[in-house]
Amino acid sequence: MMDHDHALYEHLDSTLLQSRLETSMFGRELRLYDSLPSTQDEARKWVAQGAPHGALVLAEEQTSGRGRFGRQWISPSGKGVWMSIILKPDKPFLNPAQLTLLCAVALCRAVRKLTGLDAGIKWPNDLLINARKVSGILLESVEPRSDGNTIIIAGIGISVNLQQEDYPDWLQPKATSLRIESGNPVDRYELISAFLKQLEELYVLYLREGFSAIRSLWEAHSLTLCQNISVQMPEGIVTGLAVRLDETGALIIRTADGNEHKIFSGDIF
Ligand code: BTN
Repeated sequence: MMDHDHALYEHLDSTLLQSRLETSMFGRELRLYDSLPSTQDEARKWVAQGAPHGALVLAEEQTSGRGRFGRQWISPSGKGVWMSIILKPDKPFLNPAQLTLLCAVALCRAVRKLTGLDAGIKWPNDLLINARKVSGILLESVEPRSDGNTIIIAGIGISVNLQQEDYPDWLQPKATSLRIESGNPVDRYELISAFLKQLEELYVLYLREGFSAIRSLWEAHSLTLCQNISVQMPEGIVTGLAVRLDETGALIIRTADGNEHKIFSGDIF
């Protein structure tokens, strides 16, 4: 292994990471751990101790990393970016679904810019490269504060330098990493910095101008629109064409009978 490669596999250093950040709020306070059950739980504890807006928890490894719908999230040591960012909006919070989509856009832009890879978003917030998942986002909320505003913990998992054998057999056809796709290890400092910069810019834009700008960006990176998809709804599986996002962030599907259905959450296939 060359020296340069070696540096890419070393554990992150929080002082060095902070010196690489280009943000004014996000990641300015950060806690970095060698190993945690889940950065989401650590962030929740920090919230209880009064974490500031934009505070960031990172772990080299998670022993109980979790995904949406209670799924396990593979988080081996030193190979990914496993982090949670604490968002404390200062107005009654708009819509967590919109924030989820915003995070996905930020991640997609950062990955495309840094690696040149053709990453796209599968609704609502999975990042895919060559039809395999490279990153996922999990938003959790903390009980409303005394001012009535909800605190959001945005969990982001990016499979950066994992190799095929880091995934269990059953996951290998569906999961990939930036390293697998680009053929080269990726610098986690650059990736975290690029992502937080995008996230902060989009967050400011969102608070200032609302969801419409985010919606256009999401649509521009979407792998789901104009595709025939199926989704599990309370009334059964609905199949149709994904036509657009509406102004709330719901996905609109048009079925063969011409009816439109709004999808707020769930898994599409
Ligand atoms: C998904 O696609 O299902 C969401 C995956 C979210 C994984 C991240 S890794 C950092 C944070 N801590 C967790 O336990 N989960 C999120």
